[in-house]
Amino acid sequence: MELLDGRALANELTHAQQTAVKTLKVQGVTPKLVVIMVGDDPASAIYTQSKQKRATKIGMASELKRLSAETTEAELLALVKTLNDDRTVDGILVQLPLPKQINEDHVIQAIDAKKDVDGFSPVNIGQLWLNQPGLVACTPNGIMRLLAAHKIDVAGKNVVIVGRSNIVGRPLAALMLNANATVTIAHSRTANLKALTKTADILVAAIGKPHFFGVDAVKEGAVVIDVGINRLEDGSVTGDVDFEALQTHVSAMTPVPRGVGPMTITMLMEQTIEIAKERVKRG
Ligand code: GUN
Repeated sequence: MELLDGRALANELTHAQQTAVKTLKVQGVTPKLVVIMVGDDPASAIYTQSKQKRATKIGMASELKRLSAETTEAELLALVKTLNDDRTVDGILVQLPLPKQINEDHVIQAIDAKKDVDGFSPVNIGQLWLNQPGLVACTPNGIMRLLAAHKIDVAGKNVVIVGRSNIVGRPLAALMLNANATVTIAHSRTANLKALTKTADILVAAIGKPHFFGVDAVKEGAVVIDVGINRLEDGSVTGDVDFEALQTHVSAMTPVPRGVGPMTITMLMEQTIEIAKERVKRG
């Protein structure tokens, strides 16, 4: 089995990004990412800190704006507008979930589509489904890069994506389709789920159930991408697939951790750098 090692690829790309940032700085532009976190969700705190740390590591400017859990939608929208208008800010990311007094859709729609490094805005989602250039959600983008780096061509393959979230399943389906895969999106209401996943040449698991997919649910020789991050009672983290059982059954598979996860932040940095390159061109 070929291990689809996301950490190794992320490390490689991080080095290239350090060089790209140096070049941009010589040209007078320091790529800048602003991450907004509202409230104190512990998982979000970890994610936003990792994003900060990575941005600093590659030499980018980054700012974490932590707002109180009582922040109003109007206050958050005002901050987004300020960042939209700030020429020195390349990427804006509002960490989800938001407290319930704030409508996520309103906030995502307020972010300038050209600075929407998460690729969540309706403009970027539309561009993606039209197979036109735009900013793309980072986890799906990272999955495509990981497959490409391992020379796994998705064209003509049966791809089954289990999970229909706006963050992973839906944008990944569009990317796969754009790359000429035959795509099925399965979800919690899918009938005979494991019979369906057993037909997949490439299975993407994003349902949040530890070890859900085993030999009974996966075709022999399939490629398995595990997007699950499940914390077990002993504190360890595991994916949605039974890695041990599948090791001798599949042709390639991502581990958890060190699979898809490291690629997500790497794609966030890459898109921020790409936006900064546009700023250089504009002068
Ligand atoms: N919360 C969980 N994943 C993500 C993500 O990719 N982006 C944002 N903004 N929030 C998240």
